[in-house]
Amino acid sequence: MSTFDAVDLIRTKRDGGRLTDEAIDWLIRAYTDGVVADEQMSAMAMAIFFRGLDGSELSRWTNAMIATGERMDFSSLSRPTVDKHSTGGVGDKITLPLAPLVAACGAAVPQLSGRGLGHTGGTLDKLEAIPGWRASLSNAEMLAQLESIGAVICAAGSGLAPADKKLYALRDVTATVESIPMISASIMSKKIAEGTASLVLDVKTGAGAFMKTHSDSKALAETMVGIGTDAGVNTVALITDMDAPLGRSAGNGLEVAESVEVLAGGGPSDVVELTLALAREMLACAGIDADPADALASGRAMDTWKAMIRAQGGDPEAPLPVARHTDVVTAEADGYVTGMNAMGVGLAAWRLGAGRAKQGEPVQAAAGVTWHAAVGDAVRKGQTLFTLHTDTPERMDRAKEALQGAVTIADAAPQRRPLVLERISAG
Ligand code: URA
Repeated sequence: MSTFDAVDLIRTKRDGGRLTDEAIDWLIRAYTDGVVADEQMSAMAMAIFFRGLDGSELSRWTNAMIATGERMDFSSLSRPTVDKHSTGGVGDKITLPLAPLVAACGAAVPQLSGRGLGHTGGTLDKLEAIPGWRASLSNAEMLAQLESIGAVICAAGSGLAPADKKLYALRDVTATVESIPMISASIMSKKIAEGTASLVLDVKTGAGAFMKTHSDSKALAETMVGIGTDAGVNTVALITDMDAPLGRSAGNGLEVAESVEVLAGGGPSDVVELTLALAREMLACAGIDADPADALASGRAMDTWKAMIRAQGGDPEAPLPVARHTDVVTAEADGYVTGMNAMGVGLAAWRLGAGRAKQGEPVQAAAGVTWHAAVGDAVRKGQTLFTLHTDTPERMDRAKEALQGAVTIADAAPQRRPLVLERISAG
């Protein structure tokens, strides 16, 4: 492999130039191996933040990150593989009912997930609220479970795109996360390395999302669909609303309980609607002609959920942990809820102990927030709007602060905003 001078490459990008294929391959490899220093890669990330990467630089950047690690191979499975990725939102527990639902319709769903950092929760933290459930599986265990049950939700091993792991941690501390090319390459390198044949992206937009505006979310969705399609992965994206939080709860065990309600045929209507919309897209991508609403109504999705939890050591019938302390926030006026700020709710759940401030910190299984009214509902002054749950009551005041002003109440009911705002596919 040719060698390059990191300073020259940073200067090229800083001044608006293009990086050659060979330069990108070298840079990513050399950074992963510690030859390019963190401070040099920080400067490069900032240069990319301002100057961007063009389409061919981006494909090469993504491929170079994939090449630093292993690629999984699901070609031995008898079921078609299809995965979902959400860019993250408050109360977004959709993976929990979705993976078993799509598996119950005949697909294999290899859902390699992460832990939460900041105001959005992590899927593994949620499932770890279930007594006995284990996030780490070997590749052989994962393949066997995908063949027999069809759904696996487990920790992504450190072998997938290690360059991304290092670069994401660096971006996190250098204010360079919010770059559409770098987010796209980061997400897609892991999904392509994971080896899924099809992928449905749930790109969130609004107050509680990474991308606050529709146009940024659309650009992110189009960029990721382009990368997936170029890599031969059948990729579709839905842009979905994240101004208000999803469902009625944010917090690990609370979100498991809500997901189980959905699998039992109940649950909040927005969670059901989004789960079914994503399931339909996933099944279409996988070439499976089935109606996921049937699999939900018949209980087949619930059976698959229980099998999936048991296969990873969990007891799906065990009671979920309950917080030692609760408190409430009440409505300040009569009227209709016209807005609920997802960021405020996510921050409150996080402050109650549902999330972590630093990688590796423990989280509370029972902490979080439930809301008893959603956008469009009529409320009366003094009615309970939120219940706060925590094992550590000293956290209550700061959580309440995060909820101050999070709900807007007006005399007239708001117009209903659709949950799925746009669908983006290749070509
Ligand atoms: N999630 C990722 O995996 N990477 C990013 O860069 C942002 C969100």
